[in-house]
Parts: sequence; structure tokens; C-alpha cells
Amino acid sequence: MSGAITGDTTGNTTDYKKSAELFNSTIATWAVSAAWDIGIFEVLDGADAFDIPAYAAQKKLHEPSLRATVRALTYAEVVEVDGDRVTRGATFGEFSRSKGLFQWLTKGYGSLFQRMGEVTYTAGRTGDFIRRDSTAVSIACRDVNEVFMDEAFFGALDGLEFSVAADLGCGSGERLVQLAKRDPSVRCVGIDIAKGAIEVGEKALAENGMQHRVKLIQGDARKLSQYPEFADVELMTSYLMGHDFWPREDCVALLRSIRTELPNLKYFLLADTHRDITNSVTELPVFTLGFETAHALMGQYIPTHAEWESVFEEAGWKCTKQHVYSTPSSTVIFQLEPVSA
Ligand SMILES: C[S@@+](CC[C@H](N)C(=O)[O-])C[C@H]1O[C@@H](n2cnc3c(N)ncnc32)[C@H](O)[C@@H]1O
Repeated sequence: MSGAITGDTTGNTTDYKKSAELFNSTIATWAVSAAWDIGIFEVLDGADAFDIPAYAAQKKLHEPSLRATVRALTYAEVVEVDGDRVTRGATFGEFSRSKGLFQWLTKGYGSLFQRMGEVTYTAGRTGDFIRRDSTAVSIACRDVNEVFMDEAFFGALDGLEFSVAADLGCGSGERLVQLAKRDPSVRCVGIDIAKGAIEVGEKALAENGMQHRVKLIQGDARKLSQYPEFADVELMTSYLMGHDFWPREDCVALLRSIRTELPNLKYFLLADTHRDITNSVTELPVFTLGFETAHALMGQYIPTHAEWESVFEEAGWKCTKQHVYSTPSSTVIFQLEPVSA
């Protein structure tokens, strides 16, 4: 017979439960990101269930790691597990859609958040303190665009006439591939500062046989005059990078120079996430807290919606229309047209 067991009562307090909840949610967050990598969303989209040992063998996965990932997913009800059988859980659809946002956070910005304490010290903000995985960011954003953003983007294109299109901060290059596919007479050029993003883009161009119609340049979108490829652009787009144009005086100067240096430019679809000044931290939707925190750590100012609206006229642009996305939240397409000088 075992001896008497004593224990403390800390484990029953509300605060303790909150801390356990937060800890376990963090593991589930990583599991959502991993689930995309190992094909769980894909397999359960096409079938009602999979068998853990069979799936591990088929995909050459380490079975205990797969089992642990699946268990962590059950924490957020992404899947249900009965022995070896895994089926869709109540939140499967939601996480299948938002997986790109999760991978943006975990794989894209994981190395920055890992050093959140260090970079909060002024002394920790030297050299290459901004560490992120640009390849992961571009792949994550490609998914976010496809699931949440492309429909409104293509809606905004209705009625616009152009034969040369450009995308600033083009990431995976997917928007340009789609523009080229949509109209075989359109030529496209994209620019991105990150080598990893350009590599993802070049691969997509090769896969789609689009190298002759879409050109990607690794460079700084704030210095377009250095690239003759932009001289005859008629449609400019930029998704999820406009905040890199700020602070305000830089943004006004840049928008002004884009208008004056690209004489054929007719339309600019500028979509970006602005700062949320409406919700309290406990009411924030998915993404906002991660987005705003990551950019604060990187020292990048995020303008509010009103601040964005305040720059266009001053820079010689007219905002003809806005489309507000629900996801990513606080994200707007500003449809701009140059005001003639
Ligand atoms: C959040 S990602 C969005 C990528 C893409 N626009 C999309 O919607 O999928 C932002 C991209 O802007 C790029 N970027 C940031 N600053 C830039 C700059 N000054 N010039 C060119 N690209 C830049 C980043 O490397 C990154 O690929």
C-alpha cells in the first residue's frame, strides 16, 4: 500500500487555470502551424478521418510527434481523436482558413518574439536584431490573400483598364501571377526587399510558366526611380507593406514621387493593416496583437486608419473607394487615383 499523499491547492485557483490555459493555447498555436506543414488540413478537407499510424507511415512522420501534435490540436477543438482515428473538430474550418495567420506568427516572426525581452532593451537593438523568416512570411501571406483577400482585390479591379501592372512588396509574387493569368495581354513587375520572398516568387513563376510576362526584382520599393521596369506601369498594387512607407513625411514624399515619376500610372490599390485604436486588448481579433507587437519590436510605426486617410490628398492622390476587410482585421484597400498636376 502506498503512503499518504498530501498536496497544495494552488492548482484550483482561477489565476492558475488562466496561466494553464495560456500555456496550452501557445502549444496549440504551434500545432496549428505544424498541422499545415504536415498536411492535416489538406487530408481532413478531402476525407472524414485519418489513422495516426497509417498517416505517419505514409508521410514519413515520427509517430509520437504526430500524436502529440494532434493532441495539442484537440485543445482548440481543431480535431477530435478516438484512439488512432482523427476526425475534424468543431473549429476545423476556422483554423483551416486562418492557418496562414498562425504561420505568419510562429514561423515568420517566431525568432523575433523569441527575443522579445532582449530587443526591448535599447542595447539589444543593434545589428541584425530584426530576425524574421521572409520565406515563411511570403508563404503565409499567400495563403491569407487566397483565403481572405483576393476576392475583394479582384472586385476592385473591375472596370480598371491597364496593360502594365506592378506590385510593391510583392512577397510570393502570387498577385502578379494572377493578374497575368487574368489577362494574357498584361505585363507585370514586382519588387521585394527580401531574398527569401523573391525565391518563393521565382519558383511560382517557373511553375506557372510566367517568367516571360512577370519580372521580379529584389530591391527597395521606396526607390522605384532606380528601376526602369516601373517606368510604364499603369496599375500599381501593394498589399500588407504600406506601413513600411511611414513615418508620415516619408510616406507623403514617397506617394508624391510615385505619382510624378510614373507618368502612365492610373490606379494604385494600396491595401494595408492599420493600427486598431477601437478595441481594448481583451477584445482584439486574431492577428492584431501579433501584428502591432511585432512592428513595435522592429521599430516600425503603424499608422491609424485616419492617419492613412490624411496623407493621400497631400501627396496628390484621390481616394475613390475603400474596402474594409474583416480578416485580417483593421485592413483596408484604399483605391487611389493620381490627381493631375
Ligand atoms: C507582409 S508581406 C506581404 C507580401 C505580399 N504583398 C502579400 O500580400 O502576400 C510584406 C512584404 O513586403 C516586403 N517589404 C518590406 N519593406 C519593403 C521595401 N522597402 N521594399 C520592398 N519590399 C519590402 C517584405 O519583404 C515582405 O515580403
